[in-house]
Amino acid sequence: MRDPPPAIIHVVDSSSATLLNRVDDDVFDHPVRPELLSAFLAQPSNILVVAVVSGVVVGMASGFTYVHPDKPLALFLNEVGVSKRFHRRGIARRLIAAILDRAREMGCQEAWVATEVDNLPARELYRATGGVEDDRHAVVYVYPLSGRGDES
Ligand SMILES: CC(C)(COP(=O)(O)OP(=O)(O)OC[C@H]1O[C@@H](n2cnc3c(N)ncnc32)[C@H](O)[C@@H]1OP(=O)(O)O)[C@@H](O)C(=O)NCCC(=O)NCCS
Repeated sequence: MRDPPPAIIHVVDSSSATLLNRVDDDVFDHPVRPELLSAFLAQPSNILVVAVVSGVVVGMASGFTYVHPDKPLALFLNEVGVSKRFHRRGIARRLIAAILDRAREMGCQEAWVATEVDNLPARELYRATGGVEDDRHAVVYVYPLSGRGDES
């Protein structure tokens, strides 16, 4: 069987949102919803980069930039996902390079990402792309905000 054509990496904006019309099932956690995609792209602080092969999105990296009163602009790298049929072809590596380049252009001084301790592929990926592991391991807490909110 012939190799598929190489992936093309795009930084998505409102004018190129139709790239997301065709997405492999396992790139995002859930199907892309057009109204949420529009809301995401309407915020200039958000970044979405995708990898496209033969008109189909087979990988993505997303994040948002933010400032804090005492800290300069930074990127939180929120999610990275590549379709299983394209694993280990260097697509995530290229997506991360592209999102970091975009963050640099926007003036970010730092980027950071978190993943599950047992997600070894992701940990290897972040290490392989220049990420330095923070040795103060963190724990995540979630506040469900759609309930009654009287758990105090
Ligand atoms: C993690 C993930 C994004 C990697 O995507 P990918 O396109 O296959 O990664 P790449 O081919 O660019 O790999 C780059 C480097 O990352 C590391 N790596 C990637 N997958 C790995 C694996 N399964 N085991 C060990 N190292 C791995 C390697 O160092 C690799 O370089 P090499 O192939 O030259 O050895 C992919 O496995 C995935 O989508 N996983 C499910 C979603 C997820 O867990 N996302 C991250 C948390 S949000």
